[in-house]
Amino acid sequence: MARITAGVATSHVPLLGVGIDQGKMEEDYFKPIYAGYEWSKRWIADPENKPDVVILVYNDHATAFDMNLIPTFAIGCAEEFQPADEGWGRRPVPVVKNDADFAWHLAQSLILDEFDMTIINKMDVDHGLTVPLSLMFGQPAEWPVKVVPLAVNVVTYPPPSGNRCYALGEAIRNAVESYDKDLKVQVWGTGGMSHQLQGPRAGLINKEWDQRFLDDLTADPLRLRHIPHIEYLRETGSEGIETVMWLIMRGALGGDVKELHRHYHVPGSNTAVGHIVLEAAP
Ligand code: DHB
Ligand code: FE
Repeated sequence: MARITAGVATSHVPLLGVGIDQGKMEEDYFKPIYAGYEWSKRWIADPENKPDVVILVYNDHATAFDMNLIPTFAIGCAEEFQPADEGWGRRPVPVVKNDADFAWHLAQSLILDEFDMTIINKMDVDHGLTVPLSLMFGQPAEWPVKVVPLAVNVVTYPPPSGNRCYALGEAIRNAVESYDKDLKVQVWGTGGMSHQLQGPRAGLINKEWDQRFLDDLTADPLRLRHIPHIEYLRETGSEGIETVMWLIMRGALGGDVKELHRHYHVPGSNTAVGHIVLEAAP
């Protein structure tokens, strides 16, 4: 049987991809940001912890989708996904390889479980997906895990509620546990934390709110399920809603989880960089 062993959440700031791609990791600005990922890189490289597959929950930033097509929840079922050209050429990172049989199983299980997933058979993946891979794995010739992309609309109102995201996570756990191959699976939630990239409040960061969110991933996930969109917007800026995707990861981990590692650094570009590693409930 496949099983979920751990969850990882991290911001996906594009500048942090540029810092790695251009060898700036030792520079004063970047060093304390990347330092918070050293523990995680060692942890995930350990064969005890390394997953076979990552279900990588992220959002597309008007790269593969645009105002013509806005799926709320979408799952990538293709064999592979190229890193997208977001205006400066493709990132020099490996192609993202899927476990397509597993992805199709997830799609079937989730849809029959009444989550109406959009199925994607061709898509380029943007910084929302590739930057977390770089933060966790550095610069390998091939990504050491298979990746199932799971895209969530947090770009155009209305995004899904926190409660719905959490419930999708729970359905993902059921879907994983009904797959008969022995796979070690991690679920990653990416994006966030507080940030606003535009308008008069550009640069908004709310450390207190972010810290409480990190605390309550273990202490009180029920509170997090019921945070309304308007609170994300007011307290964490217009792009802070990305953090709702972390609740898909949390819902997939089950009841009591253990916090293994946490990192929080302000700012990375315009964003509060948050990162947490959680061990799944047995
Ligand atoms: C930034 C953060 C994001 O999450 C994003 O998608 C784009 C830019 C930033 O802080 O620059
Ligand atoms: Fe983003």
